[in-house]
Amino acid sequence: MKLTIIGTGYVGLVSGACFAEMGNQVYCVDIDQEKIEGLKEGRLPIYEPGLDALVANNHAEGRLHFTSNLQEAMEECQLYFIAVGTPPGEDGSADLQYVLAVAKEIGSLLTDYAVIVNKSTVPVGTADTVREALQQELDNRGLDLTFDVVSNPEFLKEGAAIDDFMKPDRIVVGTNSPRAREMMHQLYAPFNRNHERTIYMGVRDAEMTKYAANSMLATKISFINEMANLCELMGVDVESVRRGIGSDSRIGFSFIYPGCGYGGSCFPKDVQALIRMAQQVGFEPQVLQSVENRNQFQKGWFGRQIRRHFGDDLSGLTFGVWGLAFKPGTDDMREASAKVLLADLMAAGANVLAYDPVAMETAARELPAEWFASGRLRLVDNQYQALEGVDAMLLVTEWKPFRIPDLDAMRRTMKQRLIFDGRNQYDPALIRSAGFGYVGVGRLV
Ligand SMILES: NC(=O)c1ccc[n+]([C@@H]2O[C@H](COP(=O)([O-])OP(=O)(O)OC[C@H]3O[C@@H](n4cnc5c(N)ncnc54)[C@H](O)[C@@H]3O)[C@@H](O)[C@H]2O)c1
Repeated sequence: MKLTIIGTGYVGLVSGACFAEMGNQVYCVDIDQEKIEGLKEGRLPIYEPGLDALVANNHAEGRLHFTSNLQEAMEECQLYFIAVGTPPGEDGSADLQYVLAVAKEIGSLLTDYAVIVNKSTVPVGTADTVREALQQELDNRGLDLTFDVVSNPEFLKEGAAIDDFMKPDRIVVGTNSPRAREMMHQLYAPFNRNHERTIYMGVRDAEMTKYAANSMLATKISFINEMANLCELMGVDVESVRRGIGSDSRIGFSFIYPGCGYGGSCFPKDVQALIRMAQQVGFEPQVLQSVENRNQFQKGWFGRQIRRHFGDDLSGLTFGVWGLAFKPGTDDMREASAKVLLADLMAAGANVLAYDPVAMETAARELPAEWFASGRLRLVDNQYQALEGVDAMLLVTEWKPFRIPDLDAMRRTMKQRLIFDGRNQYDPALIRSAGFGYVGVGRLV
């Protein structure tokens, strides 16, 4: 099949490469010309394990194409995936300007029946808005064409995106058009080989499913963080509680790790967008609002613990930060807890040495230039360099190389032997017996 994917970010590029791998002709389109030129020359705009080889092979074999010109990608194409960003607007609702710009552009160029697939995470009812925007363009051109708008939300996780796409838990397809359903069925057949994973439903149902899934996962995280806060105050070790409840098959171990809050391009914005959607229909979503509030609070965990130890004046102190990405396996720092921590430390006059295995370029690009210019924030080349002369080590992102730290090297390097473990990676007894102070999330002090 031939398909066009508009938006070549985490979702668009991974989807495009995986569909191409299954033998399809895929055109990846992006308005960012630099991104497209880079991709043509084999430079990936994002870090995602395994993606470089997948993109390179499919590009070399002539199945994966890159262009910034949508028209170029449209010849004999009947399937268009919209995979552009839906960032939060000022009031927290999803900003649909990029999705609608694409819908209009498709409408201004379409010459035959097509299926437009919303892969971006979009509020309930967006398929209708996309349909109207596209129809308006067709009307302007005096064209009487039929087309279908399908919702096919994406559930991949950054850091494991290829595996998630190739072996999905489920594929959600929202459509009431038999013709569109048949095309989606054919496209996804290779991903359903050992058993049928596709769940067909109404368009609005599919749009809601994506928000409900992310909100459920965010709820689990905020729930265990709430427990961690209680444990801290009640002399209970939350890690025991986590193991005790996770072993209940109705609860499970996934997404109940206490920590310094969730970030990323999805959970924070999707929970906020669902809150806005609820309010727009006159419903106060109390659970979702609490999930969001608890997460905001949790992102201040480092600040609270550091002040408990050092007092309010942090000027002259130096902190070594391990991990900047919002989670391991990605270079993405959108809504990362590290950003909140760094802003706090900078405002409090502290110095910071920071290291992340892959998010250094993102950090250099996204963090305020004045933090670097003042000399108070320095990005360093390896994890132990980030501990030279520091008053404490702050573990923010649980990358694998951080899991078993070289305590001897740390003892020699750090000025004060103190670890704030924002992801509960370390055994407090082991760390303390090695002569370090240890503070974890909801752990016994
Ligand atoms: N990142 C994830 O893990 C993830 C997972 C599931 C769903 N989603 C959803 O998928 C959507 C895309 O997310 P992402 O992380 O891939 O975004 P992204 O910001 O990485 O990529 C979006 C791309 O769209 C391009 N773009 C914007 N307007 C365009 C236009 N008019 N024409 C062509 N290209 C255009 C941008 O240049 C950018 O390259 C969002 O709705 C997001 O919520 C993301």
